[in-house]
Amino acid sequence: MAQVVAHPSLTRIGASTHLIVQDKPMLLLAGEVHNSASSSLAHMENVFDRARELNCNALFVPVSWELIEPEESHYDFSLLDGLLEGARKRTLRLIPLWFGTFKNTWSSYVPGWVKLDQSRFPRQQASRGVNTGAVTVFCDEVRRCDALAFASMMHHLRKADAVHQTVVMVQVENEVGMLGASRDHCDLAEQAFTSHVPADLMLYLQEHANTLRPELGVPWQRAGREVSGCWSHVFGSAADEVFMAWHYARFVQTVAAAGQAEYALPMYANPWLVQYQGEEPGRYPSGGPVAHMIDVWRAAAPAIALLAPDIYVDDFKGVCADYTRSGNPLLIPEARRDKAMAAKALYAFGQHAAIAFSPFGIESVGLKGVPDIDGVVAAASLGNESSPHPAEVLAQTYQMIQDMMTDIVSCVSASRSVGILQTGNSAEIHELGGYRLQIEYSQPLDATRSPAGGIVLSPADGEFIVAGFGFAIRFLPPSGCSGNVDFLKLWEGAYHKGNWIPGRRLNGDEYHLRLAPSPSVRRATVYLLK
Ligand code: DGJ
Repeated sequence: MAQVVAHPSLTRIGASTHLIVQDKPMLLLAGEVHNSASSSLAHMENVFDRARELNCNALFVPVSWELIEPEESHYDFSLLDGLLEGARKRTLRLIPLWFGTFKNTWSSYVPGWVKLDQSRFPRQQASRGVNTGAVTVFCDEVRRCDALAFASMMHHLRKADAVHQTVVMVQVENEVGMLGASRDHCDLAEQAFTSHVPADLMLYLQEHANTLRPELGVPWQRAGREVSGCWSHVFGSAADEVFMAWHYARFVQTVAAAGQAEYALPMYANPWLVQYQGEEPGRYPSGGPVAHMIDVWRAAAPAIALLAPDIYVDDFKGVCADYTRSGNPLLIPEARRDKAMAAKALYAFGQHAAIAFSPFGIESVGLKGVPDIDGVVAAASLGNESSPHPAEVLAQTYQMIQDMMTDIVSCVSASRSVGILQTGNSAEIHELGGYRLQIEYSQPLDATRSPAGGIVLSPADGEFIVAGFGFAIRFLPPSGCSGNVDFLKLWEGAYHKGNWIPGRRLNGDEYHLRLAPSPSVRRATVYLLK
């Protein structure tokens, strides 16, 4: 009898949540393709090949409503089928991005029959009477049609892919929220704004009073007072954003739940982040799943397993911390395509048990003449010994993580790992495996090369697996102890398909744990000199 394999799922293993594919935990070493790439299968051939050259094991690819349902109720899944086939040929997994009613707040990916019927699908208004390019989130009809289309796609995916599991997760809409004003002012929105805050949201806030984000603006909650009424009364100055967040999240919930009824894959939503402290909602998309709206999104959208930040801001570490603080598993569908991407990947997997890391515009990574998002143009050759090209570092890093995935998952889920990402030049100290690890960077931060990055695992006290580049580790006794720490054994080597293949035993002139500018692995056993 054929063995039944469970659908891809998110499962808690020890301290962290992992994506399980064909019964095994999988870290998505991914890239997101440019927005228009997946509208052409011919174009995708090179994109798929480039992803394989970079040692990706997965791709985030747009699937747009307008191409799936060009005429109402007439679906065309040929593009999707072609994407599945192209990915399978290269052993890549896919995460479709459902570009439905909302893509970066706008409704540019809705079918023509939605765009042109503005009385059936009324528009959002930043100021009264002036329509924008977004259908209003308060339009029940667009929500119904979007959910129907999404459900049809999931139905098709179940038939076409449940056995293969090429598709492992799905993103629902893209960077939702409203720009230009903190809330919508169309007739439907005005009406909704005067109604009472839904009982479901009030109940959630009461039940989670002790863990709510302070930015939510519910001081009455902490004062133990019962408050109810309209949005302004309950949320004061945060009312517009909370109101929009509730309605966007309910919209996404309807779409996600309709899809999950057909094929229950894990689903997530991605925010356009607040770009700087003090930025006002409406400058960034108001109502999107930004970190300070996480409670509202959780209350409104239980079908969404996690909120997954698109990280283009400089403070990568800060965003990872913000999104994991309340137990939200970390998944990064979009990261800046820059010289730090490999170091960021190692940090996210090692420090925060990330499920996925994915630079945006992966097919452009390292292409001659194409600037990275931070403006660096790939050189004609792929680097030299002292400064390898970021594309090469990413490819080697992805291969290294792939080969050591089993050990990473087991240490990360036992909270026996740290991630390294160089954001300054001074040494930093981590406690791991019964010792203090002093991380010393080999080179100062410099615009022309990748910052240091790494992952340190400790399968047992005194034992360490160190993978990455650009730093050294000095082992120190645990806090409160004096004395020195010495190596009992120190190996260079490499992982191959999950197995450690030792190289030289390091001693004498090589009796130190220092990683070169290109990714490599060391194993060390240390002991305390009492
Ligand atoms: C964020 C969006 O989510 C992506 O689809 C893409 O438009 C990038 N921005 C471009 O930088």
